[in-house]
Amino acid sequence: MSDIEAIRSRFQADIDTASDLSSLDAIRVSALGKKGEISMMMRGLGKMSPEEKTVMGPALNGLKNDVAALVDIRKTALENEALDAALASEMMDMSLPVSRKNGTLHPVQQVMEEMAVIFSDMGFSVAEGPDIEDDFHNFTALNFPPGHPARDMHDTFFMVPDSDGQQKVLRTHTSPVQIRTMMSQKPPIRIIAPGRTYRCDSDQTHTPMFHQVEGLVIGEDIHMGHLKGCLMDFVSAFFETDVDVRFRPHHFPFTEPSAEMDVRYERDGASIKIGQGNDWMEILGCGMVHPNVLTACGINPDVYQGFAFGMGVDRLAMLKYGMPDLRDMFAGDPRWLGHYGFSPLVQASLESGLS
Ligand code: PHE
Repeated sequence: MSDIEAIRSRFQADIDTASDLSSLDAIRVSALGKKGEISMMMRGLGKMSPEEKTVMGPALNGLKNDVAALVDIRKTALENEALDAALASEMMDMSLPVSRKNGTLHPVQQVMEEMAVIFSDMGFSVAEGPDIEDDFHNFTALNFPPGHPARDMHDTFFMVPDSDGQQKVLRTHTSPVQIRTMMSQKPPIRIIAPGRTYRCDSDQTHTPMFHQVEGLVIGEDIHMGHLKGCLMDFVSAFFETDVDVRFRPHHFPFTEPSAEMDVRYERDGASIKIGQGNDWMEILGCGMVHPNVLTACGINPDVYQGFAFGMGVDRLAMLKYGMPDLRDMFAGDPRWLGHYGFSPLVQASLESGLS
């Protein structure tokens, strides 16, 4: 038994003077490792007589536990010493100049803010709706009857059906916000609805998630002339130059008549100049709100009329700020954001300039 006491004191002395974690671990292995001194002694128990075993078994177990506990205590002490040393040597010098790069506003965010500034100057307010929509708001109330082929044009992402069998969708456009607004507010109405939209589509000019800004105006004497004037003023303000526009007849289930609006542009090498040249580029869809849509929202189409429009924010950002590939916008690369991003400290305004 005095042997065991001697071994304990020897290991205790070694452990207490271990100067770093690796020498401590070497001591642990020499005592408790597979071929360690204490492990070997425990293996010797098998050869002992039962009387010897009753004495040596508990003694060796106690030795093993004591040494393991001593190692743990020393390990914690060494780790704390290392941390204290690091804290003392890695002091922060608050007087050093800052070299950190500032974050930037994403061009989509910037363009949405520019649009909000332009339209709020025309008396519009901002409305919002959910990204996950039900069939009624995304399609049915917008005059897409169930089974209507126009639904297929939207490459919809469908959600797993709810427990009540209802199948929600990721909204394919911001037009459901028109429905939500007309069902919760009385005319006159003048809103824009910026937000995310989703379609199952991906190439250089399409991403599965993209952004739209919807516009809706409802009143007693609103006509197509208001629609044209509003959008013509918008594009000139947005592109910060006079822009020629052209309206082409089109079809949307929720507007009648419907049109697409093109802006005059010119390609100059890789870059695009808006407002000059002989080419036309489509930038938005619009029209007079269909009487069926007004009726579905409880608005009397014999008293009220209005117009609506919807445009792709990402497309407009690419055109205005010259980004060639839509997919880069959502790759989250800080170098891209550093190049195309905007200072968060500069507010877009009509007086001091949009961008
Ligand atoms: N919601 C249409 C689309 O995403 C755009 C639109 C909105 C057209 C409002 C007319 C009126 O394609």
